[in-house]
Amino acid sequence: MEILEPTAANLALAGARIAAGGLVALPTETVYGLGADAFNAAAVARVFEAKARPSFDPLIVHVASAAGASRVAASIPPKARALMEALWPGPLTLILPKVEELPELVTSGLPSVAIRCPAHPVARAIIEASGTAVAAPSANPFGYLSPTRAEHVARMLGDRVDLIVDGGSCEIGVESTVLDLTREPPRVLRPGGMAREAIEAAIGPIDFPPPGGGPAGGPSPSPGQLDSHYAPRTPLRLAPEGGLGPAFAEALREGRVGRRAAVLLLGEAELARLGSLAGAFAELRLLAPGGGLAEAAASLFSTLHELDGLGLDEIWAERVPERGLGPAINDRLYKASTK
Ligand code: TXA
Ligand code: MG
Repeated sequence: MEILEPTAANLALAGARIAAGGLVALPTETVYGLGADAFNAAAVARVFEAKARPSFDPLIVHVASAAGASRVAASIPPKARALMEALWPGPLTLILPKVEELPELVTSGLPSVAIRCPAHPVARAIIEASGTAVAAPSANPFGYLSPTRAEHVARMLGDRVDLIVDGGSCEIGVESTVLDLTREPPRVLRPGGMAREAIEAAIGPIDFPPPGGGPAGGPSPSPGQLDSHYAPRTPLRLAPEGGLGPAFAEALREGRVGRRAAVLLLGEAELARLGSLAGAFAELRLLAPGGGLAEAAASLFSTLHELDGLGLDEIWAERVPERGLGPAINDRLYKASTK
C-alpha cells in the first residue's frame, strides 16, 4: 500500500488503478471511500472482502456529474433531476432504478442503485480519470468507525488496498444522506451530511427517520443499516432523554462506571450543564465548543478514533439537537452505542 499526495500525476494514476481493477482509498467531503470500478464485478468483490462487508449491504456508486448518473440509473424522475441540479455535487445519495449492466453484487441484488456525486475535488478528479463509475463504501472494516483522515484508512485497511490518496481531513465528517426516490414521498434511509431542510427546500416534504437516531425498528432502514454500526471498540454509553447528568450520576451511585471513562459532549453549554460531575471523567472532549452542529459532525469520527486509542473503559455521550446535521450525528452515536 502506498499513500500518495493528490498531485495531478497521482490523481491520473489513481484513476488508472481503478480502471485496471484496483482498490483505491480516496477522500470525499464526507468520509474516505474505498473505490473500485462499479462495472467490474471482480473488483467490487475485492471491496466486500477488504471490508469484511456482508454481501447483503449494497454499495454507493460515485459519478463525476449528473450526466454520469445516467450510466447507472435506468431512469431519472423529476424530483431526482431537481435534487441533482440543486444539491449536487454534495453529500446526498439518491436511490434510483439501476441499469441492467451494473453487476448485481454492487446493489446486493436490488433493482435499485445508490448514486452520489461527491463535491471533493480529489474524488471528482479520480472518478473522471478512471473513465468509469466508482463503487465506494466508507473505507473502514464493516461495523467500525468511518475514516475521516488518510491515516485512519492506513491503520484500519492499510494492507488491503492498493493505494490511498491523502486529501487531508474530510470537511463534513459524516456520510452522505441516503434518499430513496423509488417511493413517494421520497424517504431518507440514512440521515447524513445533507440536512433534511435543504432537501425539502428543493423537492418538498420527505419521510425522515424518527428523532434520536434509534432504536431502529421504525420504517425499514437501508439494507445493511444494522442497529450496530460505526462503533468504536471501547463501549459507548449514550445517555437517555434528560441528558447525561442524571444517567451518569445514577450509574456512579450504583458503581456502574468504569475506572477510566471519557465524556463526549457537544459544547461548552453542555459541559456547564454537567457541572461538577465532569470531574469524574478521565477524558473530556467537546465536539464543537460553540455548539455548532456542522463543526460537531466534522470532528465526530476523528474524536472517536482518538478516544478509542486511549485504552479507556467506556465513552459516555449524549445526543445533540435534531436540526441540520444533528440527526446524522445522533444516528451515528446511537449505532456506535449498540453492540
Ligand atoms: O458519504 C458517503 O456516502 C460515503 C462516501 C465514501 O461517499 N460512502 C458510504 O458508503 O457511506 P457505505 O457503503 O458505507 O454506505 C452506503 C449506504 C448503506 O447504508 C447501504 O445500505 C445504502 O447506502 N445503500 C446502498 N445501495 C442502496 C440501495 N440500492 N437501496 C437502499 N440503500 C442502499
Ligand atoms: Mg459505511
